[in-house]
Amino acid sequence: MPAYRTDRSYDWNYRHGPCLTGPRPLVPATPLKDFLGIAVRSRLGIAAGLLLNARWIEAYARLGYDILTYKTVRSLRRDCQRMPNWVFLDPARVDPLDPGQRFRLAAARPRGTAPAFCSVSFGMPSKEPALWMADVARARQALGRGQALVVSVVASPGPGAGRREMVEDFARLTAMAREAGAQAIEANLSCPNVLTPEAQIFNDAALSAEIAAAMRRAARGRPVLLKVGHIPDDGTLRRFLRRVAGKADALTMVNGFSRPVLDRKGRPAYGPGRESAGILGRDIFAPCVDIVGRAARHIARERLDLALVGVGGVDGPDRAAAYFAAGAEAVEMGSAPSFDPGLAIRLKAAHPEW
Ligand SMILES: Cc1cc2nc3c(=O)[nH]c(=O)nc-3n(C[C@H](O)[C@H](O)[C@H](O)COP(=O)(O)O)c2cc1C
Repeated sequence: MPAYRTDRSYDWNYRHGPCLTGPRPLVPATPLKDFLGIAVRSRLGIAAGLLLNARWIEAYARLGYDILTYKTVRSLRRDCQRMPNWVFLDPARVDPLDPGQRFRLAAARPRGTAPAFCSVSFGMPSKEPALWMADVARARQALGRGQALVVSVVASPGPGAGRREMVEDFARLTAMAREAGAQAIEANLSCPNVLTPEAQIFNDAALSAEIAAAMRRAARGRPVLLKVGHIPDDGTLRRFLRRVAGKADALTMVNGFSRPVLDRKGRPAYGPGRESAGILGRDIFAPCVDIVGRAARHIARERLDLALVGVGGVDGPDRAAAYFAAGAEAVEMGSAPSFDPGLAIRLKAAHPEW
């Protein structure tokens, strides 16, 4: 049984999760190291998504994950999209150059802790700010020494809102997250399953840089991260890195790939209007680690002031090692910790230096 019950609603999982059973395992003691100026027991963490609230953060902190990202919140309440929100796909090779590539639901849900290839579509739901701020404060209280709380935020531009409103909303959210207890704030500039303008900001380097600069002012010394989607073209990637370096502290790369997801009969698996959704997990590893390597080389060559956090398809030590070798400062897991909560313990036991 995964920690997130995919057969239950987001609200059910928010209220009752995570479904973790058994005795509390022993986490290997590891020395402190630096993550963007924060002392952490490891540079291993959970990306924005699985950690729905303070209870989830506390449970996974006890399991030895040391960089804990609170699922993306907004400056207003937003309901979750209808179920399903998390489905399993037939294995495939993800081609980053083919956005028309389609994926089919798997015939059966994988069992046990086996790494999965999956897709999610939540629509970035959020509780109202007063509620999530109080909950972020609880999450911060629950962390041990050497653990860092990152809060992921996204703007909610209303009809007719322009760039200024978008930038201001990100800055306001940064101040709110900081006040609530976030040690770092991450802007989600890429959501593969919503169609509104906030979902693809990373394609606009100038706007991304403006957002980073405004967030940095509001963060008052706390690190600012930008979560981006895949940028296949190397020139575009280089221009993006130049624009945001020195404004954001780090990039979290990359978010799930937005692709059509079909059921076994070839119909949109999430229903009409939600044809495309985020593809993630086991099978996105290769293109994700590749872009981290390319970005790291540009950063080194041009001596840019920017760190990288690697995400995508990590389910064991070899894949985490590949991200560190590619130049990532830290490695995060999105979906695997739901099926395999003990992953951080195994990674830390094998690599206390991470
Ligand atoms: C249940 C779930 C919810 C997610 N929600 C968010 C989100 O709110 N914000 C975000 O930036 N990414 C979200 N993601 C994407 C993850 O942060 C991560 O980029 C993605 O899962 C790829 O990592 P993986 O291959 O290790 O799963 C979510 C992922 C999952 C599994």
